[in-house]
Amino acid sequence: MTTFDYSADAPAAARVDVLVLPVFEGPEPGPGVKDVKGVDLLALYRDAALKGERGDTLLVPNTGIDGLAARSILLVGVGKKTNAGADAVRLAAGKVARQLSKRGSVATTLAQAGGRGAVEAVQAVVEGLILGAYRFDRYKSEKDDPPALERVTVLGTARWDAKAARAAIERGRVVAESAAWARDLVNTPARDMTPAALAMAAEVMAKEVGLRIEVWDERRLERGGFGGILGVGQGSVNPPRMIELSYRGAAASSAPIALSGKGISFDSGGLSIKTSDGMETMKCDMGGAASILGTMRAIAILKPKVNVIAAIPSAENMPSGSATRPGDVLTHRGGRTSEVLNTDAEGRLVLADALAYLAEKKPRAIVDTATLTGACMVALGEEIWGVFGTDRALVRDLLAAGQAAGEPGWELPLHRPYRKLIDSQIADVKNIGKRYGGAITAALFLGDFVGDVPWAHVDIAGPAFAEKAGDLWPKGATGVPVRTLVSYVIGQAGRR
Ligand code: BES
Ligand code: MN
Ligand code: ZN
Repeated sequence: MTTFDYSADAPAAARVDVLVLPVFEGPEPGPGVKDVKGVDLLALYRDAALKGERGDTLLVPNTGIDGLAARSILLVGVGKKTNAGADAVRLAAGKVARQLSKRGSVATTLAQAGGRGAVEAVQAVVEGLILGAYRFDRYKSEKDDPPALERVTVLGTARWDAKAARAAIERGRVVAESAAWARDLVNTPARDMTPAALAMAAEVMAKEVGLRIEVWDERRLERGGFGGILGVGQGSVNPPRMIELSYRGAAASSAPIALSGKGISFDSGGLSIKTSDGMETMKCDMGGAASILGTMRAIAILKPKVNVIAAIPSAENMPSGSATRPGDVLTHRGGRTSEVLNTDAEGRLVLADALAYLAEKKPRAIVDTATLTGACMVALGEEIWGVFGTDRALVRDLLAAGQAAGEPGWELPLHRPYRKLIDSQIADVKNIGKRYGGAITAALFLGDFVGDVPWAHVDIAGPAFAEKAGDLWPKGATGVPVRTLVSYVIGQAGRR
């Protein structure tokens, strides 16, 4: 694991393997570039035909450069100076981490290129370095090299508040390590990440960071009336679970924030079976659950002054002689019924139980996240999550948190008139609408189970799992929206 520290020393004096310095588009020198006197770095960069576009990198070995303590310099483009912010430096840091191959120490002025929000930029640089360095090689017999980053020094200026910078480093480290931990859960094949295994991983994590946890097994779910979770899980030999977590950061009288995440350990579609192409990545269908677990982990370590509870439903959606059939009716927690016309619309069925359970606790707000609909992915693509909500302030806060965290979302309408599309002939609601507006009818289904608690639903079908590598991740799980949710929860601390 990488250790991080903070210093306001001159960049040229940093005794490290690699000194990472930013270059703006032009190219124009970023912070620290001009401080290295013994060589014209910008001229070298320009000679290599690089312009300072994000990710344009050049490695300059220290062949006796005057006054330079580092063994080499890595110049990295961060894009236009006018656009430079936390987001730009996070992505550049990710790119750097993906490129460093040898194990060693790094110092960087990247955070100083982050514009006015110095503290946000410090956090972003740390996040970028950790997330960019992420690998998943548990199933490779020949492992990649050990993690390239041994020690990282974030370089600030004498004007910066060192204490605030150190706190930002710690926040970045905890958030990124929690997102990476969530990625591991998602990348682990469904054979090994069954509902019980997910619950076990949650128990180990909870013990480590000091969270209260309770795992509901089949018998308890039965007694509690969780017919949605049981109905989806009944076709699999791997029985379902519900993971309940709680974090106390404020007085017991302070209403908690409630979180839930879809934990389908594998989505075959059930009897309404998917095509083999459609199934290929469906180990990712517990991405919502993993991100809530990652969020709870980060919160437990960072300790914001707010209470948070979570209920995470987990089941494996399989076809078999014992599977739920199209046409079956399930009775959810609290007594509402749903008609299952398509067993592949299973996420809403398990979430309905968890949402109804959380609403009983009278939280100040409920936020759920789920790889819920292909329709949301069609609407917003692979990089943007969709959010639906009953409360303006809640939706606004989530969108702002996502923007700040570099995980952008977009609001979609919870259009009440479409509720009629999921009217059931024989039950309270049916689990599919028409072909069009599928993300909206899915959200409206969930909305039936939250009572009058302010609620938002975050559909991450697109961004949870990357079909190709990005600056902050290899192909596979992304950990989205851990950064958003941690930022949202921290932003609620001290309120009410
Ligand atoms: N888990 C899928 C949604 C999904 C698709 C997530 C692709 C990530 C990538 C979900 O359970 C599902 O199958 N949804 C169906 C709903 C339909 C049957 C109403 C869909 O979107 O096609
Ligand atoms: Mn499905
Ligand atoms: Zn699913």
